[in-house]
Amino acid sequence: MLKGKKILLGVTGSIAAYKSAILIRLLVKAGAEVRVIMTEASKNFVTPLSLSTLSKNPIISGLADNDSWNNHVLLGRWADIMLIAPLSCNTLSKMANGNCDNLLMAVYLSAICPVAAAPAMDEDMWKHVTTKSNILKIKGSGNYILPVENGELASGFTGEGRMKEPEAIFQWLNEFFTTRLELKGKKVLVTAGPTYEPIDPVRFIGNHSTGKMGVAIAEEMNRRGANVTLILGPSSIIVTSEVETIRVNTAKEMFMTCENKFADADITVMTAAVADYTPLVVEPEKIKKSEPVFELKLTRSPDILSSLGNKKKDGQILVGFALETKNEREYALKKLKSKNADLIILNSLLDEGSGFGYDTNKITIFDKQGNELQFEKKPKKDVAIDIVNCIINLLDA
Ligand code: CTP
Repeated sequence: MLKGKKILLGVTGSIAAYKSAILIRLLVKAGAEVRVIMTEASKNFVTPLSLSTLSKNPIISGLADNDSWNNHVLLGRWADIMLIAPLSCNTLSKMANGNCDNLLMAVYLSAICPVAAAPAMDEDMWKHVTTKSNILKIKGSGNYILPVENGELASGFTGEGRMKEPEAIFQWLNEFFTTRLELKGKKVLVTAGPTYEPIDPVRFIGNHSTGKMGVAIAEEMNRRGANVTLILGPSSIIVTSEVETIRVNTAKEMFMTCENKFADADITVMTAAVADYTPLVVEPEKIKKSEPVFELKLTRSPDILSSLGNKKKDGQILVGFALETKNEREYALKKLKSKNADLIILNSLLDEGSGFGYDTNKITIFDKQGNELQFEKKPKKDVAIDIVNCIINLLDA
């Protein structure tokens, strides 16, 4: 499972850094590509020469090495997973607070791949209330934490805080990549972002959607092995290169692209905030102001989800969103039925931290069997995991 996988290993200052050498050896033997970022403190515990020899790659350490800049954004994009092992108390605190004072943190803060960490520290530090709260914080941002073990510690005491053994971390990585590929061979279509309906050459009707939720779903589908096409309205969001992205502007363009792609899709998720109305006439020249009241005639734009719902064949899964400001449950259930969707995901603008522009969302998922699944407010990356899990359950049903 690890053959060809790109693993970015961060090593920080802890006695457990010697275990990184064993882990690297196991990963390289299994065919993984390993690149190692060492913090300055980690070099007191294990030498860069040992880790570069075992990983078969030069060690990356400073924001610039040998007069050339280490591109932290590209490193984060290169990796299939970033693993910080050992994770020292100091780096944990930086992760929790977003400090960016070394290359490891610059990569962590720009990584778009999943991030896992294996903490290592003495029991008293591990049990400190600040450490506990930092762990909760980084878990809440979607990082995976490999639990510490109980045993002999560097202080000479015995207790909780030992880093997981390299063999167990290796096993965890193997499992991580196996469960990621539940959607291998599946074609997925996702719409995201707003649409812009032109009024004249300088003006349009739009909305506040940023596309974050849809892009998070597209990326999660891709991580699980699906072949993903994202149809994205005007949005400045950056999408990983593995997701095929088709840019559109208007509801009509989004409609036509969806109609084209839908027949081939096993799963379609419509997160886009499509404009329901579009100007009847698009003026070729800029409209000049004259009268105190100006009327604009609008006409209904196509309801893409409904149209796809009418064409849906057996075995295809169609998922829609419902963005509501009142009577949320009633409207969501109405959309599930009228648009012939298999799932409707409700997000209410009444919930704080939910909806356009936020990095978090709070959703309820409704299915055709009458089930209703409520989730806590979470980062959109984690919401995407919940949604994809729910869709996979439908596939398995
Ligand atoms: N949708 C669509 N085409 C439209 C409008 C909406 O495909 N012209 C899709 C959205 O992508 C979403 C679902 O339909 O998955 C519900 O969108 P929402 O804006 O909540 O509702 P509307 O259908 O537009 O209905 P209303 O504005 O009356 O709430």
